[in-house]
Amino acid sequence: MKLTPRLEAVANLVSDDARIADIGTDHGYIPVYLIKKNKIKYAIAADVNKGPLNNAKKEISLNNLEHRIELRLGSGLSVLTVGEVDEVVIAGMGGVLISQLIETEFEIAKKLDKMILQPMQASAELRRYLHENGFVIEEEILVKEDFRIYEIMVVKYDDREISKEQEKEQEEEIYYEVGKGLLRNKDCLLLEFIDKKIKEYYNIIGKLEGKAGEKIESRIYECKSKIQKLEELRNHVH
Ligand SMILES: C[S@@+](CC[C@H](N)C(=O)[O-])C[C@H]1O[C@@H](n2cnc3c(N)ncnc32)[C@H](O)[C@@H]1O
Repeated sequence: MKLTPRLEAVANLVSDDARIADIGTDHGYIPVYLIKKNKIKYAIAADVNKGPLNNAKKEISLNNLEHRIELRLGSGLSVLTVGEVDEVVIAGMGGVLISQLIETEFEIAKKLDKMILQPMQASAELRRYLHENGFVIEEEILVKEDFRIYEIMVVKYDDREISKEQEKEQEEEIYYEVGKGLLRNKDCLLLEFIDKKIKEYYNIIGKLEGKAGEKIESRIYECKSKIQKLEELRNHVH
């Protein structure tokens, strides 16, 4: 079974022999792949929608893995009980939704050894939520699929981490956009990732220029200051 680069990178971050839940599993590819690879023995494949859960059911039965993968219908982490699994994967959803799913079942999320999160957008909002709520991003990677660069975070709850250093991080907005883990690792896609962000801000400015209004001016100012910060990061990485 061949996964796409994004899903393969997510799956590779699961620990050996972990009991996992794949939340928003859709086709069930991640649990099926991990069990076929013999990396894990048991998984829960969950989805809030019946259609995607049926896709997973088909994939699981095609691979004769009904005895290893349990299907659950429901929203986010609410399909789990505290301590039932070691690790959770939440991939392919928006960052705001991911943070809401964590917040809704905070007690379950707190007890996990690891959450592997792959937001499709709003990753800055997700990083902010994680930092402000005692979660540590232990590892971050970028993966390219077609023309898009995806961010994947490995996250764990650690209330001791709400420390001076983290308060300082919260002030530095730019690290919500470009995770410190990516800078630490000097991810090989980092420069391309930063360049894409710079380009996106120039595009926004291009669309706003020529229009009048206080809000527009302040948005242009915000974009320019983001570009400056991103260029500083870029020079630092270089
Ligand atoms: C774009 S698919 C991603 C599938 C797969 N995880 C991936 O990364 O390729 C998003 C899936 O999340 C499911 N989903 C959306 N909101 C959810 C929620 N609150 N709880 C669980 N699953 C949800 C959708 O039904 C859909 O199957």
